[in-house]
Order: sequence, then C-alpha cells, then structure tokens
Amino acid sequence: MTSTIFKKHIVCIGAGYVGGPTMAMIAARCPEYAVTVVDINPERIAAWQTDSLPIYEPGLLVLVRESLGRNLFFSTDISGAIHKADIIFVSVNTPTKTYGEGAGKAADLQYWEKTARTILQVSGSNKIIIEKSTLPVRTALAMERILNANDKGLHFEVLSNPEFLAEGSAVADLENPDRVLIGSRETESGLKARAEIVDIYAHWVAPERIITSNLWSAELSKLVANAFLAQRISSINSISALCEKTEASVGEVALAIGTDSRIGPKFLNASVGFGGSCFKKDILNLVYICEHYGLHEVARYWESVVMMNEYQQQRFVTNMIKVMFNTVAGKRIVLLGFAFKANTSDTRESPSIAVARKLLNEHALVVITDPKALDNARIDLHDCAGRIEFCDDPYEASRNAHAIAVMTEWDHYCELDYARIFKHMEKPAFIFDGRNILDHKKLFTIGFNVFSIGKSPLKHF
Ligand code: NAD
Ligand code: UGA
Repeated sequence: MTSTIFKKHIVCIGAGYVGGPTMAMIAARCPEYAVTVVDINPERIAAWQTDSLPIYEPGLLVLVRESLGRNLFFSTDISGAIHKADIIFVSVNTPTKTYGEGAGKAADLQYWEKTARTILQVSGSNKIIIEKSTLPVRTALAMERILNANDKGLHFEVLSNPEFLAEGSAVADLENPDRVLIGSRETESGLKARAEIVDIYAHWVAPERIITSNLWSAELSKLVANAFLAQRISSINSISALCEKTEASVGEVALAIGTDSRIGPKFLNASVGFGGSCFKKDILNLVYICEHYGLHEVARYWESVVMMNEYQQQRFVTNMIKVMFNTVAGKRIVLLGFAFKANTSDTRESPSIAVARKLLNEHALVVITDPKALDNARIDLHDCAGRIEFCDDPYEASRNAHAIAVMTEWDHYCELDYARIFKHMEKPAFIFDGRNILDHKKLFTIGFNVFSIGKSPLKHF
C-alpha cells in the first residue's frame, strides 16, 4: 500500500471473529481508506488471504474478496502498520481472567494492555485509538493514561465503538446494523475524532442509526446489551422447566408473550442454553464491576442469568439419563451439532461441550457430528480422545445409537430422513431436541420417543 493513494490508514489489531469481518466491511464500503488487519497469529493472517478463511460466516468470503489487495490487507507486521496508521481499532480477545484477583469473573486485559504499549512504542504521530473489543466500563481511562504518558509529545484520542454483530449473521449485521455506537470524550479533540469515525460508518449506515455518546456510556452499553439478550434466554428457559411440569408449551407461551409489542418476539427460543464466547464472559464481567462498586444486589441479579443457563444444561442431561432408564453407560448417544449456534464453526462455550462431558462422565459412548465445527470440537475435547467419536455423516453417526440429542439448530437437521435413521438405531430410540426445531409429532409417528425443551414428551411407554 502506498500512503499517497489513500485518504487515511486504518489498522485493526486482532484478526478474529470481529476484526476480520468488521474491517472487510469498512474496506468494501470505504475504498478511499486503506484498511490493514494485523495479528500475532501468522496462520490466521495467512488464512484470511486464502479461500479457506479462518472463520466460517455466510457471505464473508465474497466480502473479503471484494477488497483484498485493493484496500484491504492482512499482515503480521504489527509495528509497521501501527506506525502508518491514523486510526487504530483494537479488537483483541478479552477473555475471563483465570488467575489472581477477579479470577472467574473479571476481564483479562493483558492482550489489551499489550496492544496499548505496542502502540505507544512504535507511534510517531497522533492517532485515534478505538476500543472495538468488549471491555469493562472505564477501561478507556487506563488506555488514555498509558498512551498519553509519553515523552514524544503525541496525543492519542481514545474512543469506544463496541461491536454488536452476532456470529452466523455477521455480514448481514454489519451491512445493516440496528445501530452503530460511538463514544468519545466530549472535549474538542474527542468530538473531532468522534466525527471522523461517524464519517466512516456514514458511508453505508443511515445517520439515525449512528448513535454517539460519552465514552463510559458506550463501554457500558455493550456489556448491558449482552446481559439483556442473555437474560431473555434465561428467562424463557426458566419458564421451559415450569412448562414441562404443567403441560404448558413454551413455544406457545413465547408466542403469547412475544406478541406484546413491549416484550417483542425475538430471543425467546427456549434451548439447551446459550453459548458463545461473550454472553457468559460479559455478564460475569458486569457482575465483577458491580461488586467492585459495592452493588452486591445488582451483581447477584445478573449472576442469576448465568446460573440459570448452567441449570438448563444440567437439566437437559439429567433428563436424558432419567428417561433412558437411569443409565446411559455403554449407550451410543449422538450429538447433532456442536457449534454454539447455527451457521458458524465457533464452539466457544457451546452447551455441547458441557453436555458431552457430562455424558462421558456417565460412561456414554458419545458421537459428535456437525457440518462446520468438527475441527473445533476435536480441539475442545482433545482430553477425551479415544472415548469419543467424530463423524461427518449424521446417518453414519446414528447407526446403532440409543439416542440423538439436537444441540445446534442447523437447518438441514430438519430435513434428515428420520425414518432411515430410526431403522438403524437401538430400540427404544430417543430424540432429545435441545433446540425445538424438529417435527415432534412426525418423529413420534416414526417410532421415536421425543423429548424437547418446555413441552410434554411424546413417548411410547
Ligand atoms: P478472537 O479470539 O477471535 O480474535 C482476537 C484476535 O486478537 C486473535 O486472533 C489474537 O491472536 C489477536 N491478538 C491477541 N493479542 C494480540 C496482540 N497483542 N497483537 C495482535 N493481535 C492480538 O476474538 P473475537 O471473537 O474477535 O473477539 C474480540 C473482541 O470482540 C472481544 O472483546 C469480544 O468480546 C468482542 N466481541 C466479539 C463478538 C463475536 O461475535 N465474537 C461480537 C462482539 C464483540
Ligand atoms: C451475541 C449478541 O447477539 C451480539 O449482539 C453480540 O455482539 C455478541 O454476542 C458478542 O458480543 O459476542 P452471538 O453470541 O454471536 O451474539 O450469538 P447469539 O445469536 O446472540 O446467540 C447466543 C447464544 O444464545 C447461542 O447459543 C444461541 O443458540 C442462543 N440463543 C439465542 C437461544 O438459546 N435462544 C434464543 O432465542 C436466541
């Protein structure tokens, strides 16, 4: 890339699920900007430049191809890219801390702080630094202090522009976001930097969807958005347990409440529990922050969302064991799907991991199938090698199985030939639909005993 042909140089540190897709969208919509995505992981950087992208997202390959080599670049030369940059998005991982103070709840900011120090070390000009990662509220203050304590006379303006895309629909979400949120200091330089970032998004996002705020509101809103979304799932999942006791049907209840425009219909699908890299981590982070400020009741309130999710996963397995005559030892059980949701290969915090481990503890023979996530499944369960089978073909996987558990709502699981599957299974054959996606009456007619979430079972005994 040459500095003369581009209006500005944008760099993104972190070429993951957020950095890659968001920068591909900015590059496609803003051809006058050079966009370089850097990472410490050379395999990831190489893969972004091939037809086998490091992550699976519908529409992503076409989007990347549109700008790759024109104004979209992937590189491991982090220092070189930072040096040239006018605007730096930081999109590194911010997992839950596993050690020391706040272990199990607080965000681990080591990757984040390292990037701040690298920026400081290699910069020779003023820059706008944008928090794209999800961070605890008031992290920007630490970032500002590290960056602006320099003796080069440089000024770094720190902004927060949290990302709201969901995996599996990342490209569509970026193309047509409900909103873009940009928080800054409300100083002259803060407002000027904010206007620059608004300009980028205004290339394709309608002005009324670009929300601006102070820095702290932007940082906190990201955590709160995830907490509210997860809370809806835990709320409907808690009701699914009650439905199973009362012959109410959770789908009917969700429809009845979701048609109230104040409640709304989305995110009311009862399930085996929410997964994904962020809901649990971000809620626990919110809990930690509340505790830090002495807001213990608020902390307990949000913590219960995570506890309900764990209860739902445990309940699913307990129910499987109970209905399969109190033992699954030696029984072949197929997990249909391993990704934490459909249309992604991501398995981070997938309920399938917890369910597979609980079944293995009960000495079941666990077989895993998934159209996109088998490689990640092998990594997640590497310590169980020899006790677990991975199989591309759901028909092969279910041969001689006692039970099938639907873990991921992949569309094509609805179209499988269940009569064929039933024929080759042990009898009585069980289906546990952890996503409520199958035609339960049809399965019952075929001969299956059908157990779903929040509905009365259909059983032949
Ligand atoms: P990821 O793990 O897929 O990607 C992070 C990347 O950062 C990795 O490739 C890693 O190698 C790289 N990295 C770490 N330290 C680095 C350093 N010092 N220099 C250069 N590269 C470095 O993570 P992700 O899913 O993209 O999430 C990134 C952030 O975005 C997190 O804070 C997450 O909470 C947030 N977020 C994620 C999603 C999502 O759907 N995954 C959505 C919204 C927000
Ligand atoms: C979520 C948010 O939806 C995004 O806005 C946010 O940017 C992102 O987290 C993040 O910060 O990482 P994501 O985790 O990719 O996105 O996927 P979701 O569609 O939110 O699903 C999360 C989990 O909840 C999945 O396991 C899904 O199957 C489950 N879910 C979702 C339900 O069980 N029921 C529902 O009704 C909806």
